[in-house]
Amino acid sequence: MSERFSELAWMLREMGIGPLWRRRNGQGGPTTDAIEGQAQAKAPHGVGVLPPARQAAPRGAHAPDAEAERAEAIDIAALDWAGLESAIRACRRCKLAATRTQAVPGVGDRKPSWFVLGEGPGEQEDQKGEPFVGPAGRLLDAMLAAVGKRRGEGVYITNVVKCRPPGNRNPEPDEIAACRPWLERQLALAAPRLILAVGKFAAQTALGREDTVAGLRARGGPCVLAGSTAPVAVTYHPSYLLRTPADKAKAWEDLQRALALTGGDSSGCTASPPQQD
Ligand code: URA
Repeated sequence: MSERFSELAWMLREMGIGPLWRRRNGQGGPTTDAIEGQAQAKAPHGVGVLPPARQAAPRGAHAPDAEAERAEAIDIAALDWAGLESAIRACRRCKLAATRTQAVPGVGDRKPSWFVLGEGPGEQEDQKGEPFVGPAGRLLDAMLAAVGKRRGEGVYITNVVKCRPPGNRNPEPDEIAACRPWLERQLALAAPRLILAVGKFAAQTALGREDTVAGLRARGGPCVLAGSTAPVAVTYHPSYLLRTPADKAKAWEDLQRALALTGGDSSGCTASPPQQD
């Protein structure tokens, strides 16, 4: 087995997807390298609250006046990547600034094909200043690798909110609204071909629709955030998939759809259709 093939097989196994087939001379048609690992069944989906489209950043108790004035004075549309990242790191537009260790702007290729949008930093991300570095990040990396993508190479990763919600609670509508201008500027600078929204909050924010992940992933649509009209592909959040591995098969389908939208192939490998219970 080639090194690349073994690597891919491992990543698919991480996702609970398989078996993996190697194309013969890139012509398609399965050969013998089958790797076991099946995904099964279904799981419930949550319903969430769609943040208001554009809402003034909350101020007051959490943003001392001088700082709030400075933040308001920034011409976000004029910021380059470096300016944007330092503005995000200094941001005090919402109450999350009071409890974070640091803001987590994003990581990766600044002219990406895929723009991966998560929910918000967790504990490890808050400590390290990089998105998706904990267990969910390991699964996200495996998901990306399974379709021939790698963090930092053609992929940019960020979150709807750049600061950790305490105790990993869900981000609140005012926090999502306060962070939205940063996200919109990131999208304008990155100009991705596709936005992969992972989880409910990312999908609702990018699509501007209040629905379950199941509903949103079925339809996708254009991004409603200023800064991009790229198509939005929706899949389950890796943290959810860690708790509900049966839905990894659906995530695999989502990734294949996303890949097709950007005209890619998964490096000569295809997985067999996932089994359903
Ligand atoms: N979950 C997210 O949504 N984002 C992270 O950066 C880490 C975990």
